[in-house]
Amino acid sequence: MTRPRVLSGIQPTHDSFHLGNYLGAIKQWVELQADHDAFYCVVDLHALTIETDPALLRKRTLVSAAQLIALGVDPNKCTLFLQSHISQHNQLGWIMECLAGFGEASRMTQFKDKSQKSGTDRTAVGLFTYPMLQAADILLYQADRVPVGEDQRQHIELTRDLAGRFNSRYGQTFQLPQAYILKSGAKINDLQDPTSKMSKSAATMQGVIEIMDTPESNAKKIKSSMTDTGREVRFDTEEKPGISNLLTIHCALSGKTIPELEAEFEGKGYGDFKASVAEIVVEYLRPIRLRTLELLEDEKYLLKILREGADKARIVAEKTLSDTYKNLGLVER
Ligand code: TYM
Repeated sequence: MTRPRVLSGIQPTHDSFHLGNYLGAIKQWVELQADHDAFYCVVDLHALTIETDPALLRKRTLVSAAQLIALGVDPNKCTLFLQSHISQHNQLGWIMECLAGFGEASRMTQFKDKSQKSGTDRTAVGLFTYPMLQAADILLYQADRVPVGEDQRQHIELTRDLAGRFNSRYGQTFQLPQAYILKSGAKINDLQDPTSKMSKSAATMQGVIEIMDTPESNAKKIKSSMTDTGREVRFDTEEKPGISNLLTIHCALSGKTIPELEAEFEGKGYGDFKASVAEIVVEYLRPIRLRTLELLEDEKYLLKILREGADKARIVAEKTLSDTYKNLGLVER
């Protein structure tokens, strides 16, 4: 029996992933690789939508691959590769751009948010066409499921719309993918501003737990996280967004349920609870950081994994692109 396909991607835009990336997405990548035919890529071409320094991009791409492996993405169980190693992503991306409406693309909230921040003149055209390249990433592999955080829901919806449109115009070509988004953990918030998502592009990193940060620094960030009014440890996103966010993080890493944690900290203050969250997070991340640093020492090994991943990915990507070209009426070579 063939296993369902899964594909997901992550941008190598920073020196470290953050806890939101892990809990919202990568943790599910690791779980799904057990019984899915999984394709995971570091989307280095997507990272070009913001101005980058070449040496930094190279370094961050390798740090990203190393972190994924350290977090449990296993190259023996899945196909791990770099987007830029498979030229079919760009080729199918163009087809998706020709299929998407200008208005449809203009409604993407991530584009609106990001372009508002930098102003129209400084916003790259690539940022506008970004979701169509993302659709190509997914559709090339005929993915059934796409494990992502809540912020990617709209992009996956667009991908489904584009796939459906193509299939109805040109004949069945693409599998319609489904977003695989957890009920809890799909949006981890900033520790200093707990009503906004934890983000790599936050104005300050004080509220962002980075996987590659030192245990001491991460413990400090958690202990000085924004405190809600009152002193009761209770899950209530309206009244207590800060504590609710910490409860979500604790649950996801300790495996305890919210009612269990509420009972455990009944009668105790926020201080005790934050100390417990800090310990859980720090001890969870400690070996992952060390393993990443170890992997980075052996660049040859990392490059070999990525080359082997690309060789596997290319087989699937070539077949989908060739079917797409044929169905579109492009003349065969
Ligand atoms: P990126 O690189 O911004 O983030 C990687 C993954 O982390 C999730 N995430 C979060 N989840 C929970 N809470 C948060 N605070 C949080 N912040 C980020 C994201 O939802 C994502 O799943 N466009 C994508 C990359 C991409 C992609 C793809 C994803 C390119 N092609 C194909 C899936 C399939 C992005 O920018 O993710």
